[in-house]
Amino acid sequence: LERTFCIIKPDAVEKKKAGAILAFLEEAGFSILAAKRTHLTRAVAEGFYAVHSARPFFGELVEFMTRSPVFVVALEREDAVAHYRKVMGATDPAKAEANTIRKLYGGSVGENAVHGSDSLDNAKIEIAYFFPGNEVAPVAG
Ligand code: GTP
Ligand code: MG
Repeated sequence: LERTFCIIKPDAVEKKKAGAILAFLEEAGFSILAAKRTHLTRAVAEGFYAVHSARPFFGELVEFMTRSPVFVVALEREDAVAHYRKVMGATDPAKAEANTIRKLYGGSVGENAVHGSDSLDNAKIEIAYFFPGNEVAPVAG
């Protein structure tokens, strides 16, 4: 089993779709190892998206992510990172396949309902960033 990291972004939480998205993920075979609601500070959002700090939309992205609360979620499944990328759908909801989270719940390339880790290494870093210590049980073995 593998783990990945999800954020249910402000747009989806504002639309009261957090529960629907968690249900979608369970239907897709993921176990929810941990989930909490938190309002990202500017410092936390900038730290999380540091790799994008040179992109032209960085300021807009940080504004959006700090606008209202999010849910941070640790997920587990076989092939979790790749499978979650698949069910999440393309960054731009207009280009996402049918029955993906972003097609169902995303509004635009900026406000696209969810975040998903893009590699196993980043999944570990991102889970540790939001769930320090033993908030998520260590991987067995
Ligand atoms: P994440 O799972 O959120 O990392 O999305 P991604 O991996 O599909 O996209 P990427 O890492 O390239 O971009 C990170 C996030 O920046 C996206 O999810 C969007 O919220 C935002 N973003 C990407 N491109 C644009 C853009 O052109 N305009 C705006 N406003 N936001 C963008
Ligand atoms: Mg990304």
